[in-house]
Amino acid sequence: MERNEKNHSMMSVPKFGGWDQDDAAGAMDYSMVFTQARENKKHKKMNPNKIKYKSFGANTNHGQAPCKDAYALEDPIVLSMGFISSQFLPIFFLTFFTIITSSLSQSNQICDAGTEIPSSKLLVKGGTVVNAHHQQIADVYVEDGVIVAVNPNIRVGDDVTVIDALGKYVMPGGIDPHTHLDMDVGFTATVDDFFSGQAAALAGGTTMHIDFVIPLNGSLTAGFEDYEKKAKKSCMDYGFHMVITKWDETVSKEMELMVKEKGINSFKFFMAYKGIFMINDELLLEGLKKCKSLGALAMVHAENGDAVYEGQEKMIELGITGPEGHALSRPAMLEGEATARAIRLADFVNTPLYVVHVMSIDAMEEIEKARKSGQKVIGEPIASGLGLDESWLWHPDFEIAAKYVMSPPIRKRGHDRALQAALSTGVLQLVGTDHCAFNSTQKARGVDDFRKIPNGVNGIEERMHLVWDIMVESGQITPSDYVRLTSTECARIFNLYPKKGAILPGSDADIIILNPNSSFEISAKSHHSRLDTNVYEGRRGKGKIEVTIAGGRVVWENNELKVTPGTGRYIQMPPFSYLFDGLDKKDAIYLNSLQAPVKRVKAST
Ligand code: URP
Ligand code: ZN
Ligand code: ZN
Repeated sequence: MERNEKNHSMMSVPKFGGWDQDDAAGAMDYSMVFTQARENKKHKKMNPNKIKYKSFGANTNHGQAPCKDAYALEDPIVLSMGFISSQFLPIFFLTFFTIITSSLSQSNQICDAGTEIPSSKLLVKGGTVVNAHHQQIADVYVEDGVIVAVNPNIRVGDDVTVIDALGKYVMPGGIDPHTHLDMDVGFTATVDDFFSGQAAALAGGTTMHIDFVIPLNGSLTAGFEDYEKKAKKSCMDYGFHMVITKWDETVSKEMELMVKEKGINSFKFFMAYKGIFMINDELLLEGLKKCKSLGALAMVHAENGDAVYEGQEKMIELGITGPEGHALSRPAMLEGEATARAIRLADFVNTPLYVVHVMSIDAMEEIEKARKSGQKVIGEPIASGLGLDESWLWHPDFEIAAKYVMSPPIRKRGHDRALQAALSTGVLQLVGTDHCAFNSTQKARGVDDFRKIPNGVNGIEERMHLVWDIMVESGQITPSDYVRLTSTECARIFNLYPKKGAILPGSDADIIILNPNSSFEISAKSHHSRLDTNVYEGRRGKGKIEVTIAGGRVVWENNELKVTPGTGRYIQMPPFSYLFDGLDKKDAIYLNSLQAPVKRVKAST
């Protein structure tokens, strides 16, 4: 995605929204399949509380949706459903499932039409309930998508579905703070949309994610509306960050609108991707000031984009055109430099900073230094940075090497271990994925020039298993730490706690059951993403997420997904998280310390 002066096809700024992806066709692949085949019983309305929920799909129930409503999407098949009378629905479904299931089996979209009427009341029995600060053996009782009680020996009636969790961990569903579903990059778009990516997430124990809205033709509002449409097919809860790529009065006003009316409380600034997304220091300073005034968190992609551009030119001059040129052109020092710069500018403005995809020791050490000095800096490593190393980029098979191209690059062995240690000691605070899935055909665009390979790797489905295996199984962290790093801290940073990120009465019933004695194996043959490859292909590990409950619905059990487009809710995130506490005091101390302006007596002549 870097700008390439010599190659004009690479130089062009992506025409966001210009890619004529056939949305309806995309939705058709999935429609009908991930759903219940029978009408479910009606559910009571959710209790509104501090956090606002909004469903962009037609179905606003958080419990099991009536089947007809679940299809109230915009694709042609869905609309045609309205014309089928209800007594013919079972026959219609049966015929349709036979056709669709066979076509989807090739793309691993395992599904279950579901023949039972699911209960809105659940009891997760006898597991070890883990929160970020505490664990206990207890039952968890759920009604209408919300946790009602967490106690030992809860007794329930026959109308309650009981799930046995004896000997297993019962934990809050994962929250992935960093994804790119259905992201248009001008010449193509990521292959996982808000349905396939979320289905994959749920199969891997993640029950909420926060995606990055890209402005459309420079407009934040148009970008937001574009993502509202994309997210209509959601089957799990999601929120949005907003990317800022330019600066003027309109952008400044739109940022305010996003925070005050649209539920966005974070803005991302790219210090790389020159000529596409990259911003300069002047814009970053404006953005930091605006974020501070709105109580919104500033996020940075920290690489020195100008130096990366130079590095790329150098590699091409040296005749290094393959994926290894990607790593060589943007070394860790450039990530360290930009991280340090962003941290200092945030300190200058006195506003919190969130560094996304921390991939190197260089960046991590800058964050460590800043935190030690008392600055509010959050560091987010991602699954690929913790579990992979750059050697893949030297693989002789281009297809294999290209799938590891992402930015900042996956680093040399040693960086992964250092990032793990930083997580376990609190230097870094939460784990994301940067799930940004491009298939092998899309990656082949750069077969003669690494600069044309679309950047991004998968992870939304794998993160929870990998973090358990890499961090808990190795003894580096406890199950409580695991909950904090994969869920609770994200909920706190983005002001969703304790509605999200906890197993507590009143929290959303986003729950996973992990069996520590079972194991997982990752493969493109069995994963649920639309990707034809997987950067963790063949990887095995201990700890298997056997059940995922999202909003009180059992969506993953017995290796089967039961998901319905339109059941995911947009989660509005209020500004002024805990990271903003005390900033005003620091500002006041600073102003009092200035001893200026100095009152001078006029010098006599
Ligand atoms: O390579 C990456 N990381 N692609 C996604 C865009 C970004 O920089 O987060
Ligand atoms: Zn980035
Ligand atoms: Zn990203």
